Amino acid sequence: MTVKNICCIGAGYVGGPTMAVIAKKNPQINVNIVDINQERIDAWNSKDLSKLPVYEPGLADIVRDCRGINLFFSTKIDEAINTAEMIFISVNTPTKTYGKGKGMAADLKYVELCSRKIAEVAKTDKIVVEKSTLPVRTAEAIKSILHNTGNGINFHILSNPEFLAEGTAVQDLLNPDRVLIGGESKEAIESLSKVYGSWVSEDRILTTNLWSSELSKLTANAFLAQRVSSINAISELCEHTEANVNEVAKAIGMDSRIGPKFLKASVGFGGSCFQKDILNLVYIAKSYGLKEVADYWEQVVIMNDHQKRRFSDNLIKTLYNTVSGKKIAMLGWAFKKDTNDTRESAAIYVADHLLNEQANIAVYDPQVFEQKVLNDLNYLNTRTERENAEGIYSASTPYEAMKGAHAIAIMTEWDEFKDYDWQRIYDNMKKPAFVFDGRSLLDKEKMNKIGFEYYSIGQ
Ligand code: NAD
Ligand code: UDX
Repeated sequence: MTVKNICCIGAGYVGGPTMAVIAKKNPQINVNIVDINQERIDAWNSKDLSKLPVYEPGLADIVRDCRGINLFFSTKIDEAINTAEMIFISVNTPTKTYGKGKGMAADLKYVELCSRKIAEVAKTDKIVVEKSTLPVRTAEAIKSILHNTGNGINFHILSNPEFLAEGTAVQDLLNPDRVLIGGESKEAIESLSKVYGSWVSEDRILTTNLWSSELSKLTANAFLAQRVSSINAISELCEHTEANVNEVAKAIGMDSRIGPKFLKASVGFGGSCFQKDILNLVYIAKSYGLKEVADYWEQVVIMNDHQKRRFSDNLIKTLYNTVSGKKIAMLGWAFKKDTNDTRESAAIYVADHLLNEQANIAVYDPQVFEQKVLNDLNYLNTRTERENAEGIYSASTPYEAMKGAHAIAIMTEWDEFKDYDWQRIYDNMKKPAFVFDGRSLLDKEKMNKIGFEYYSIGQ
């Protein structure tokens, strides 16, 4: 089937950038991204490109080039489904917060709603592509919904998980290590391969059966997160032995069997994917009665929770066992640099812990503003919204955030933090001036020379 119209349901961190790149590389295809969230769609359509809902280097340029030409954002879901030959489902699949599997299983209600919508409004044959990360064997459920309510229309289901990382989404999409397509219909697989074939070479387009494709996505995230938890576990040992985790990471990473990536010790991994996908994997393993498999992977998340807690515990202990009434400046709130996404950011949990100890927190993040910070904390339900608003605020400049602070906690590795005038910051802080670098971002020697009491993970 030649694809002339694509519909993508879900205009989020994956749907937005992925479809923008598909549109850019396939000028002959019309790409309609639809969402139920009017505010998000309005933001995607905003004239001022700095107001797009997703911040990603390079994304605004592509949106500027394609929007209104062959890339469209709207809430007209039925219309977009009807005109498309190929429909991507790219909605959120968060961890369930209720009922069976609460806190572990993926919540598939949005995916199911999309499937039912497609079944309800489709009038011609469709290729339905799972772009969301889904538990293995979800395609079976989607197939069942489509075939039972689909008025005799043919639906082909493909699994095409997305491997982009936020902050580098555009580069990852333009130059992917691989594109994975799982499916049963050869023709449908070929149609999707052709869309990617406009810019991805054939040897990087990998096809598998549906279930391998679904499971590969969860497995890839579990392996990546496992590396971070592994090096974070070693970072704690380093702090007790005078080994330096950065040196250890370099030494092991030069072994070509291990490789250098994802060995950066940190305050703990965040983001919308790692924890959610591992918990989902654990839940699936448990549901098949595979206790050892489940326990093995769950340890990656347990280690990550420990690392976040250890960071705030260390800070409190070093500040003479109390942060009550003290000003703590947090540099960075996003879960990594070059994104405005804060989902599961370690900063949220560190701040929550410090607020329990009655700290006064000032946050500065170049892409995250006060309402998001407050929303993230309010979502935890640890205290009232008013109490959160009294305990934490966003400063409009980094220097204001750090002025008069007892300590600075570096939560995100934004490049600009390295270039600040650290002498000026030191001069304006309470003494001793403490810095807790959760990202090993700054130069320890330089910081000590200025006079800071500088602590970094694993050193
Ligand atoms: P997101 O929350 O940013 O976006 C999802 C969008 O779907 C939202 O705008 C929401 O309004 C919309 N939506 C939900 N239900 C809908 C419905 N019934 N009809 C229309 N729109 C609906 O999520 P995301 O980060 O883009 O993630 C989407 C999927 O991709 C998830 O399964 C995630 O695990 C996976 N994934 C995410 C990343 C990442 O880096 N964020 C990377 C790879 C895979
Ligand atoms: C991840 C996967 O990398 C990506 O392939 C998948 O599609 C979605 O999930 P993302 O969460 O956007 O991407 O970012 P990633 O670069 O993987 O970082 C995740 C977290 O791990 C961040 O908080 C990051 O700071 C942390 N991390 C990463 C480390 O602490 N150390 C590292 O060495 C690498």
